[in-house]
Amino acid sequence: MSRDTLINLLYLFSATTFLLALKGLGSPKRARRGNFIAAVGMTVAIGATFFKHVDGHPLHHVGLIILAMVIGVIVAVPTARLVQMTAMPQLVAIFNGVGGGAAALVSITEFMHIHSTSPATYVTLEVLLGVLIGTVSFSGSAIAYAKLQELMTGRPVTYPGQQIFNGLMGLAALGFIVTMLVTGSMVLLWALLAVSFVLGIAFVLPIGGADVPVLISLLNSFTGLAVAASGFTLGSNLLIVAGTLVGASGILLTRLMSKAMGRSLANVLFSAFGSATTSGAAAAGEERPVRSASPEDVAVLLGLASKVVIIPGYGLAVAQAQHVLRELAEVLESKGIEVDYAIHPVAGRMPGHMNVLLAEANVPYEQLKEMDEANIELQTADVAIVVGANDTVNPAAKDDPSSPIYGMPIINADLAENVLFLKRSMRPGFAGIENELLYNPKTTLVFGDAKDTLTKMVAAVKQN
Ligand code: TAP
Repeated sequence: MSRDTLINLLYLFSATTFLLALKGLGSPKRARRGNFIAAVGMTVAIGATFFKHVDGHPLHHVGLIILAMVIGVIVAVPTARLVQMTAMPQLVAIFNGVGGGAAALVSITEFMHIHSTSPATYVTLEVLLGVLIGTVSFSGSAIAYAKLQELMTGRPVTYPGQQIFNGLMGLAALGFIVTMLVTGSMVLLWALLAVSFVLGIAFVLPIGGADVPVLISLLNSFTGLAVAASGFTLGSNLLIVAGTLVGASGILLTRLMSKAMGRSLANVLFSAFGSATTSGAAAAGEERPVRSASPEDVAVLLGLASKVVIIPGYGLAVAQAQHVLRELAEVLESKGIEVDYAIHPVAGRMPGHMNVLLAEANVPYEQLKEMDEANIELQTADVAIVVGANDTVNPAAKDDPSSPIYGMPIINADLAENVLFLKRSMRPGFAGIENELLYNPKTTLVFGDAKDTLTKMVAAVKQN
């Protein structure tokens, strides 16, 4: 078997592992294995590439490539290990941006190479698309990172004529590409690079904090397309397959997230959602009565329940209370109480955030109920415990057509006989809107950091 055939077979193996990995990532139970399978496939692909011959010659600059890989490992491994779970979207943004930037650099280098010979039109199109998409992904991801890391305001940044400006930038980029296809101008390459860079920033600026995770998924998809373009440029089937998989899965995830938020993708990208401030009574400065109790008081109520549904949200991740939450569930179960977890698809700040958090605490997968099933379970629950969730249980999404989250499917916590709402204050959730559930006669608020509150509840339930 020739070297090329063997390498292509190894690439085929890698592409197959990527598909299996995606399948694994579709379920919390198999996600870890899926990730591992993808890592094995990627290692095989990288290893095989070292033996590739280009234009009849072995790989050039092997020392430099290995040095770049070592630097990458030194930076990426500790970053990924030490990152807080709540900062994961930022990490994904930065990794994604670097991927887009790398794809753009490959395209630029290739353009310069082609420019020195005589380019055929079809060769440069994917090169130029690689520059455009990769650079948009790079600069857009950098702004998304800055927003999530609070290096700049997380709110939408808007100004008059913004959409027109963005549209003109997009048209300018396309104009440069068409002109370059005809003339092969080197000067226009730098102009395209500059316009793409500004376009990435301008595209992301009007998107508000809570929508940034959706945007990151879209930028991830862009990076995939830029990588696929690099694959055409370099004649690498594996890059084409891997890039297309990332592009397609990124766009599917983007659509799923928008749907779970009850909004169209266009609304997420162009409506500057989140620039409005708190509405209704809170905006008018009115104080309305709520019922609150101590962790010890609500432990008595829990002791009387026969079925409890726990609804986790972003605050659970902030408080890092997943372990003590599982402990509470175990204590309740030891008293014969049935416990389930209701998982909203966009609870937290990234896809699968609650699944990852609860898996870390070894919560059994069978207890995790997706939204539709959870809403059925809630009809017969004695107590719903909302732990750091807010928007995902806000009834305004179904009752108030004027609400910005109207139409978003929610977990109907108010179907349970009683609702225990664990949070630190009366502050709203990420969407910045008031939650009527806090004022529902069924609801008892237990103020405090979720970890602290849950620890006290565990002790009190044990004693009862
Ligand atoms: P949120 O609506 O953001 O509410 C989080 C709640 O946690 C707040 O009410 C906060 O109240 C409380 N909290 C924060 N720290 C706490 C702590 N240490 N202890 C106790 N409570 C704490 O959360 P959610 O229900 O998970 O909704 C997620 C939001 O993100 C939705 O608007 C969703 O559309 C958006 N979003 C999610 C995604 C993905 S993929 N997950 C993507 C894009 C957008 P206090 O400050 O009073 O404690």
